[in-house]
Amino acid sequence: MQARHRIILDCDPGVDDAIAILLALACPEIDLLGITCVTGNKDLSFTANNALRICALVARQDVSVYAGCARPLMGPYVRKWPSVHGTDGLCDLELPGTPGHLAEEHAVDFIIRQVLAAPGQVSLCVIGPMTNIALAIVKAPQIAPLIHSIVFMGGAAFCPGNSSPLAEFNFLVDPEAAEIVMSSCIPLVMLGLDVTQKVRIREPHINAFEQSGTVSAMAIGAMLRAYGSNDPCLHDPCAVLYYIAPELFSGMEAHVQVLSNPPEARGSTVAAVSERHLGGRSPNCFVVTDCEADDLMRVLVDRMSGEMNHALEVGGRGTSKPKSGSPQRM
Ligand code: BDR
Ligand code: CA
Repeated sequence: MQARHRIILDCDPGVDDAIAILLALACPEIDLLGITCVTGNKDLSFTANNALRICALVARQDVSVYAGCARPLMGPYVRKWPSVHGTDGLCDLELPGTPGHLAEEHAVDFIIRQVLAAPGQVSLCVIGPMTNIALAIVKAPQIAPLIHSIVFMGGAAFCPGNSSPLAEFNFLVDPEAAEIVMSSCIPLVMLGLDVTQKVRIREPHINAFEQSGTVSAMAIGAMLRAYGSNDPCLHDPCAVLYYIAPELFSGMEAHVQVLSNPPEARGSTVAAVSERHLGGRSPNCFVVTDCEADDLMRVLVDRMSGEMNHALEVGGRGTSKPKSGSPQRM
């Protein structure tokens, strides 16, 4: 049997982060070492509390949640538009369960400690702004060659942004942090808008969640009813799905850079793929650009619904086939 992926999930819940957490908690392939939180979709106080609420929802208060950076590296992030995640980050829904307490250790120190304790074995799944990860690398540069890999949701390599014409949200919030990670020489897998915008929520998926009867799937259904009308894409779960079904994704090696300037390009992704554009540089990232979206949704619904069988009428059923160009990083 393949060894379990030992991951730290770094997040800013957020509805799609919440679904990613629930998925990670439900997957036997994943050994979740802890959840680290950052300011992003909401301020840190909200995102950290939301991670606790999600763990409580499925009675997993045993999973430690660590608060990390309260602001991006270079200063506060001021939103210029309302959040698609409601006032509290989880669409203002009342969720069952009594949240536990935050761990006392700072998220950055937790990441450093875990990587040093298991060199080459810990992978970081990053689904928010990269502030915690960049700070960990700056504080303890010796961890970079010891991190197994970073699988992240962020950026827009070959498509427009979602938070500015050029920038995806996570990169826009902290582009300096993202660039520190890009230039770290850690094996990177990027699931940006190129692929996550293909994983769209449709009515049959929401119905399947709502009808499944599991507490997590029903909460997901309720959150998606509120969130899906604002952003119909399941961005963050893609990063977790990559660990359990990498054969459903495909992409290419590229050299990825994140710009901080000029202001109108802040947070934009520059992805060089061809020899001509690489100009002698080596690729630093596997950029995922395509996926079997219907199969991924099916995996998500099935994992969140226990053993139930579903007859989703979205794109028909069928077994998943590996695509050419599928990544071999996991
Ligand atoms: C990313 O931005 C956030 O709103 C989501 O949680 C996701 O991580 C998508 O651009
Ligand atoms: Ca997120």
